[in-house]
Amino acid sequence: MKFFVDTADTAEIKDLAATGLVDGVTTNPSLIKKSGRDFFEVIAEICEIVPGPVSAEVAATTLDGMLAEAARLSPIAPNVTIKVPLTWDGLKATKRLSAEGVKVNVTLCFSAAQALLAAKAGATYISPFIGRLDDIGLDGLDLISDICQIYDQYESIQTEVLVASVRSPGHVIEAAKMGAHVATLPPAVLRQLALHPLTDKGLAAFLADWEATGQKIV
Ligand code: G3P
Repeated sequence: MKFFVDTADTAEIKDLAATGLVDGVTTNPSLIKKSGRDFFEVIAEICEIVPGPVSAEVAATTLDGMLAEAARLSPIAPNVTIKVPLTWDGLKATKRLSAEGVKVNVTLCFSAAQALLAAKAGATYISPFIGRLDDIGLDGLDLISDICQIYDQYESIQTEVLVASVRSPGHVIEAAKMGAHVATLPPAVLRQLALHPLTDKGLAAFLADWEATGQKIV
């Protein structure tokens, strides 16, 4: 499973990218707002930090508007992925952009039917928002299971399932068991993946015993 980070905070991205475990980055208008920075500047900086795909989301809602914005965003760097909303205009834009070889991340997916349409339109990634489904009393992971099952039926579908709106390590593990290709993680969730209280407890005991031997490795 590939790990993307879901943030426009370049200090966080730098820190996490130093682990070598970050395969890409996703942003959205809310994350850009939170960064307080210029959209073009921040995307360019992220693209330099992480060589993998970096999603930059259009703000237009019409086909022509989305294509015009994609034409401005794509030249920022070769690793820019254009993110479009799952609307009819977004699907039309996906079809047009993917035919031109542009990588497209179709976002705001909340149903398997929407995911099927995005795949037919040639999306590189489909982004189902699982946390937001959980928030309204549904089970977001059921949607991941459905999409993975549907995509697996057709060799012609190359679209990758990019699990978004992730809230916990449990989301990541369950989605990985289903074979989802990518999870985009808030930095805090990515950090949480490495943590276990028994690891801390075990390490403390090992270090105390090692100290007691009086030995040194180097
Ligand atoms: O980037 C899209 C998605 O991951 C947003 O997540 O936490 O705002 O529902 P959230």
